[in-house]
Amino acid sequence: MPGLPNGLNRYAHICGWGTAVPDTILTNSELSRMVDTDDEWIVARTGIKQRYIANGKETTASLGVEAAKAALDTADISPNDLDLIIVATSTPEHNFPSTASLIQDELGASKAGAFDMGAACTGFVYALSVAGQIIQSGAINTVLVIGSETLSKIVNWEDRSTCVLFGDGAGAFVLQGSEVPGGILTSVLRSDGSGGDLLKVPAGGSALPASYDTLRDNLHTITMNGREVFRFATRVMADACREVVSAAGMTMDDIDFIVPHQANARIIEAAARNLNLPLDMFIMNMDRYGNTSAASIPLALCEAVADNRIKPHNNLVFVAFGGGLTWGATLVTWGVSKSTSPHQVWHKLRRQALYRVARIRSAVRRSTRMIEGALWGGEEMDDN
Ligand code: COA
Repeated sequence: MPGLPNGLNRYAHICGWGTAVPDTILTNSELSRMVDTDDEWIVARTGIKQRYIANGKETTASLGVEAAKAALDTADISPNDLDLIIVATSTPEHNFPSTASLIQDELGASKAGAFDMGAACTGFVYALSVAGQIIQSGAINTVLVIGSETLSKIVNWEDRSTCVLFGDGAGAFVLQGSEVPGGILTSVLRSDGSGGDLLKVPAGGSALPASYDTLRDNLHTITMNGREVFRFATRVMADACREVVSAAGMTMDDIDFIVPHQANARIIEAAARNLNLPLDMFIMNMDRYGNTSAASIPLALCEAVADNRIKPHNNLVFVAFGGGLTWGATLVTWGVSKSTSPHQVWHKLRRQALYRVARIRSAVRRSTRMIEGALWGGEEMDDN
């Protein structure tokens, strides 16, 4: 196996993985009772048959926490072992605090830093690349990377050209440093902001803050030029795959599977043709999930691992594109099989106890802050 192009000899392995989806499924035929569309059109143009939709209580953070707990179980590590949490999302819980900080609190990951990564549907590839390089540098050892989305909350449910595409869900990886070669090898990250208008949520930021007018004009929902995004996606996917493979000193013959962003089956078919690769090398599950943006790659990967398609030492290319415009790819050698420690059951019970303690600790901290604020907050301000 080739070493890392950056000359470092510390590797970042994916040693835990997990997913979460909402309880509710929305099928194409149910959608066709909401907007002027039909199952035949959606399947033929996108490959999507159904998607998961979050209810009022299911949020980007709650799905992210569920996926993170599953990933910590697979890795069989404690939340206290985490050095950093990165959440890739376009549907954060709030502008701030970051969704990553809320998840850190819920997990009780008391030694972890936390931040959100905003690169739309390419967010998971960006986050994976950043996490891998921080670990390879030796700065920290254990990173939780989460892609979590509740796109149903920013979809215009009256726009048939976009509402049929998106779904909700979350996926998470635990990355750990090791001297054993493998894990994240190379990445390609790109952006072309001149195409920012092709796919965006126009209002709610500093350019167009929320107002009565923005609400009336439905500017807090996704707008998209589907044809242009389609053209862009088919062009960049194949290029990014070639670039990331060549940066590792490999050829496409060395690659076992491509795990692409699950936007549209036709985009993936076009990339397969362009790369001259058989379609069965591409992991696809958008038929059941739709486009879950930053969550789509871990959701696809976890299914392929669960059904034993992906084996240790397989070389995988994660490739994505999305709003920004952004695109990117990461080459990974899948090196660590699922932990089989005889103490795993006890470790899981311990983790569950830690999650309960984390909730209590968080509630106590909030109450303490309130009481301190009521008793001394004014005095301290007066002193200043
Ligand atoms: N049901 C039925 N008809 C629909 C429809 C729907 N849900 N959505 C659009 N149509 C109609 C259009 O109104 C148009 O009708 P017209 O010819 O009478 O004007 C016709 O279908 C063709 O529309 P068009 O936009 O050219 O379709 P398309 O083949 O480009 O497919 C997308 C539309 C959105 C599926 C496709 O452009 C796409 O997938 N683009 C990429 C989107 C994407 O991946 N975004 C996320 C990136 S991360």
